[in-house]
Amino acid sequence: MRLLDFIVPSMSYQVLARKYRPKNFDSLVGQDHVVRALTHALENKRLHHAYLFTGTRGVGKTTLSRILAKALNCQGTDGQGDITAHPCGVCDACTSIDAGRFVDYIEMDAASNRGVDEMAQLLEQAIYAPSNARFKVYMIDEVHMLTSHAFNAMLKTLEEPPEHVKFILATTDPQKIPVTVLSRCLQFNLKQMPPGHIVSHLENILSQEQISYDTPALRLLAQGAQGSMRDALSLTDQAIAYSAGKVTLDAVQGMLGALDHTYLVRLMDALAVQEGETLLAVADDMAARSLSWSAALQDLGTLLNRIAIAQAVPGALPDDLPELDDIQRLAAQFSAEDIQLFYQIVVHGRHELGLAPDEYAGFTMTLLRMLAFTPLRAHGDGNKLVPPASAKLSAAATKPKASAPVSLAIASKPENNPLTTEVSASSTTTARSPSPAANCNKSSSKKN
Ligand SMILES: Nc1ncnc2c1ncn2[C@@H]1O[C@H](COP(=O)(O)OP(=O)(O)OP(=O)(O)O)[C@@H](O)[C@H]1O
Ligand SMILES: [Mg+2]
Ligand SMILES: [Zn+2]
Repeated sequence: MRLLDFIVPSMSYQVLARKYRPKNFDSLVGQDHVVRALTHALENKRLHHAYLFTGTRGVGKTTLSRILAKALNCQGTDGQGDITAHPCGVCDACTSIDAGRFVDYIEMDAASNRGVDEMAQLLEQAIYAPSNARFKVYMIDEVHMLTSHAFNAMLKTLEEPPEHVKFILATTDPQKIPVTVLSRCLQFNLKQMPPGHIVSHLENILSQEQISYDTPALRLLAQGAQGSMRDALSLTDQAIAYSAGKVTLDAVQGMLGALDHTYLVRLMDALAVQEGETLLAVADDMAARSLSWSAALQDLGTLLNRIAIAQAVPGALPDDLPELDDIQRLAAQFSAEDIQLFYQIVVHGRHELGLAPDEYAGFTMTLLRMLAFTPLRAHGDGNKLVPPASAKLSAAATKPKASAPVSLAIASKPENNPLTTEVSASSTTTARSPSPAANCNKSSSKKN
């Protein structure tokens, strides 16, 4: 053992994102449309000379570019190979490209080589034949960062490069690329990773790493990654460290400061029975755990979105959502209009969080606004809502087994305006559902 290994044993640890970078088209997750087009082109040897990969961070642009470079230069296991859609992975070209030391595959970061001089240098070199390969492949990453002079300098070569040169441009921001460049490239838009794809990729990797996990924890990580596979893997690395080698739901929730969904369900339940006091009590519980208010509103928005989906298209939600039962129950308790309105209030509430006197005030104000707009309920049945507007629509929108009851009382109430409905609610309802204002005062005086 070398001394260095002894001093820094952790140096041998490779982060998951790098260790599990897909090495061929088959192991790439998603991006089927791009893989299909490139595979076809490679198999028929109808190769364009300039490709542009666009897409948000960590969805496979660099990965795809390396696979393409290997496909173009693979020599096959016996050294006799030709251009292929299935690079062998063992020849010198494949292994060197994977290791980042293939002289004829040049990755240039346009963010730090923006100018016309760097571009001129690159183009000058491009003229010379590859030293030990079929093609010289230039990968220009974050290409939108090039100056307009640099773009202009490359136009001619990009249009008619030497036979042995292929360009691969990658960017997270295609809007910033001049149309003159766009029109010279074959463009592929890489998609964000759907959570389902991320979860199964993580399951696969964690099994290979022999690390145990809870699937709901992976789902939470996938949600946190917001469509980026790299972010998902980095978060997983972090979760493994955080939870000492076992990726549990508890640990991931703790790590992400994520909300246990029971808080949100309690909030919705409190709205269903118009209990301002409970709303504030739940908010206080959340404050005690110092959860992020913005994230809480984001999660509440997600929950409302799922409730709306359950109302409109029952069966569209994945069966393995942990909170599916609650979602279905809530979907039956509120009308479609309520959920739409709540969603809007929550989205606005989150947007206005920075304007609120403090975030706690912003959060509770959002809850109280939802309460203020919760429609009138029938007397004597605390569990059932009377939709303010079209009872028919809400009954149709909710699932048949739990259609919203239609009360005759509502027929004489002013319709369509939640505010008017609320006014009459506070003036006509009894101690069972006190007005939000009363609750608010009560609770805030208790707080002080
Ligand atoms: N489609 C994918 N399938 C499997 N893993 C992926 C995929 N996309 C990204 N990854 C993982 O994320 C890591 C980073 O991916 P990559 O470097 O290709 O992202 P990128 O799109 O170039 O992002 P950036 O814009 O930040 O450069 C890879 O090493 C791999 O582990
Ligand atoms: Mg990249
Ligand atoms: Zn090979």
